[in-house]
Amino acid sequence: MMTMLKNLQGWIDARIPMTATYNRHVGQYATPKNFNFWYFFGSLALLVLVNQLLTGIWLTMNYVPSAEGAFASVEYIMRDVEYGWLLRYMHSTGASAFFIVVYLHMFRGVIYGSYQKPRELLWLFGMLIFLVLMAEAFMGYLLPWGQMSFWGAQVIISLFGAIPVIGDDITLWIRGDYVISGATLNRFFALHVIALPLVLVVLVFLHLIALHEVGSNNPDGIEIKKNKDENGWPVDGIPFHPYYTVKDIMGVAGFLIAFCWVLFYLPDGGGYFLERPNFEPANPLKTPEHIAPVWYFTPFYAILRAVPNKLGGVVMMGLSIAVLFVLPWLDRCKVKSVRYRSMFHKLNIGQFAVSFIILGYLGAVPATPELTIAARVFTITYFAFFFFLWLYSKNEKTKPVPERLTH
Ligand code: HEM
Repeated sequence: MMTMLKNLQGWIDARIPMTATYNRHVGQYATPKNFNFWYFFGSLALLVLVNQLLTGIWLTMNYVPSAEGAFASVEYIMRDVEYGWLLRYMHSTGASAFFIVVYLHMFRGVIYGSYQKPRELLWLFGMLIFLVLMAEAFMGYLLPWGQMSFWGAQVIISLFGAIPVIGDDITLWIRGDYVISGATLNRFFALHVIALPLVLVVLVFLHLIALHEVGSNNPDGIEIKKNKDENGWPVDGIPFHPYYTVKDIMGVAGFLIAFCWVLFYLPDGGGYFLERPNFEPANPLKTPEHIAPVWYFTPFYAILRAVPNKLGGVVMMGLSIAVLFVLPWLDRCKVKSVRYRSMFHKLNIGQFAVSFIILGYLGAVPATPELTIAARVFTITYFAFFFFLWLYSKNEKTKPVPERLTH
């Protein structure tokens, strides 16, 4: 039996580099030995991506992409399709889980300076993934054709109307109609189920290729490739398999416990993962009392609303995402990890995280004059993170970085 398998392996290896690829990327891929829980979120993002693709395919089997049929088809999936409720909730809860995992994954990059040289391109691929993920989630939310699907899309698409001269033509082009209609639903469906998932999978592939070219960073921010033994193996490296395949299973177990709890006990996330008005069919004649996007967009939505001028708001919202793209060039410090950086940097990262969370809250609740002032303050502190980072990072007083990884 073993000889047969060996022969089969030899036969395949003579035709495609199966064993060589496995060894290069898994079996003999050198990984820093000090990964902590922050390093779970990359593999968890992959897990959620697979969950979204699979449950999405099965939902598509019974979903009807038309203004007349969409809402009823989702109800049909929930009530009559075998395990349809589970597929639907795995997909809708999965969308929120995706953003939780990706935000934590990005934050890990920020605290350990993983965006710095030589990982700039890895970070840029990550940012493109983030953009596509936002477009994917936005379009997916229109598909159930509920009240918030309709009115949320109405608000967001109308933002493009703020662009001078060509704004109105662009909104018309996006909607495919003078109002949000079946034509809009059809094109969002096409983009959501095939175009954007394809782009996402290609980008994730490139993200991982870029990661394996330079190797992972780690909580100490030390390049393990700089210190190799006589066989060329990094002295602080351990093979990805079995060490991190096993460790990642721990992360998967923890994640699944939390995910299943929400899935089975709180599938609408208390109105945050699936908003209440979305359990009513879309009605173009009835505006919901309070329109807010899903929680993962609310920090950016708060920035949009904080600016009194519509075009100004759109520009600031765009900038709040664009500035993340140039993060690798704003941070001019030679030291990567927050562990060895200045107190000011620690405080700056802390205030950035707090600002982002508070903006998320402010974007989710109805705006009042007081809350609008708060949104302005936290918009400023959000941008201040990047400005201060650029300012102090060049001559930052850092602690000595050890030669070898610490535990
Ligand atoms: C579908 C979404 C994504 C998937 C599946 C994904 C997957 C992964 C995986 C498997 C790793 C290696 C394991 C780890 O370091 O946690 C990784 C590393 C990394 N990712 Fe992502 N990622 C995604 C989105 C993003 C985004 C949005 C960003 C940032 C804008 C990003 C930035 C990074 C960086 C900087 C690293 C290297 C971290 C280090 O070595 O310290 N990723 N990603």
